[in-house]
Amino acid sequence: MNCKEFLDLGKQPIANGFLYKDEIKKEFFFNLKVGFDEETKLITQMGYVDPPLMFNKNYAYRGSMSKTMRDHFYGFSNSFKLKNKLQILEIGSNDGVFIKNWQPDQIIAVEPCSNFAKMTNEMGYKTYDEFWTMELADKIQKSHGKRDIIFAANCICHIPDLDNTFKAVESLLRDNGIFIFEDPSLASMINNNSYDQIYDEHPHIFSIIALDNILQRNGLQIVKVENLSVHGGSNRIYAQKLGNKIAGWYESVERNKTYERILGLDKFETFERFTKRVEQSKEDLVRILTQCKNEGKKVISYGATSKSTTIFNYCKIGTNLIEYITDTTPEKQGKLSPGMHIPIISPKIGFNNSVDYAYLGAWNFVKEISEKENKYLDRGGKFITHVPIVKFV
Ligand code: TMP
Repeated sequence: MNCKEFLDLGKQPIANGFLYKDEIKKEFFFNLKVGFDEETKLITQMGYVDPPLMFNKNYAYRGSMSKTMRDHFYGFSNSFKLKNKLQILEIGSNDGVFIKNWQPDQIIAVEPCSNFAKMTNEMGYKTYDEFWTMELADKIQKSHGKRDIIFAANCICHIPDLDNTFKAVESLLRDNGIFIFEDPSLASMINNNSYDQIYDEHPHIFSIIALDNILQRNGLQIVKVENLSVHGGSNRIYAQKLGNKIAGWYESVERNKTYERILGLDKFETFERFTKRVEQSKEDLVRILTQCKNEGKKVISYGATSKSTTIFNYCKIGTNLIEYITDTTPEKQGKLSPGMHIPIISPKIGFNNSVDYAYLGAWNFVKEISEKENKYLDRGGKFITHVPIVKFV
């Protein structure tokens, strides 16, 4: 890779590394810098955090915690016409939010976070408690044969070595099989100024242009792209073995690539301009939170997300500006946020009448949250977001 750095988000902890007070001393930090690869046009970190430091038995993010994600995977699984005839593999099955929409005899899962692998094995789904590698693909092929569909959601952009990942997919896919994966979209990140998509677990933020370049050198090609609203704007990418185009599908690939060229996602200068907007966003967010605090208002944060780890550590926002964070995930409650050590409590306790402003750490769920918290909004409570500009919602 020939990577040119354009953004330095400073010293950052493990984004999902929620911790107890007595663990603060041994907390791990790294320097989060982002670059542009001239060869493939990939947006990627200048150095990668070792995956076992992030994905292990203590992993806290659970896809099933959000109705939006449960509905999303339920709807997608039911859209397959030959549903009961397909043999599937999911890479990165998390707590089973996707696989539970399928019969256990037609889906195999791979999940290196052993807390979740244990959970889905107990649900009856064969789950390999390992990282996705060529060796694992060989092992699965020997025991289960090739797959019609290989699926991954919010997982491929987590893996540093994309060439190895795609080679392993290509080897396990049937000749007419489809590799379907969803990840945050670079176009959405640029349009939303949502630089908090960048954290340790997201070594890359994908454009279609870059992905197709890397897939093609590993025997795969993109045949269809769907733009999704989840996770603040994602793409669902359908890839097949080279030379195996499905008629009528390819138009969406060209349309997305053309749009990305208009946005300049294939040019380094676009990202230099993005950096200027990130710096402005930081200044605006700190100013607005300081103003609320100075007016004697109670400001909390809603959703202890990995994204908010980037924001709080880059902007140096701690208990000086945010009293606590509420989050529905039991594994996060009672702990501190990574790096800035803001306490996390259940919304049942913390999201009460004393709250004046709530920064939306989970801004990507703004619709679900606004509907759920309509009483808060009715009594004059306000959310604060930085997407696409810093503002009250
Ligand atoms: P994510 O943005 O990385 O998907 O994480 C979302 C987090 O926000 C997850 O920990 C659950 C939390 N959350 C709430 O606390 N309340 C909510 O209403 C929603 C939608 C999410």
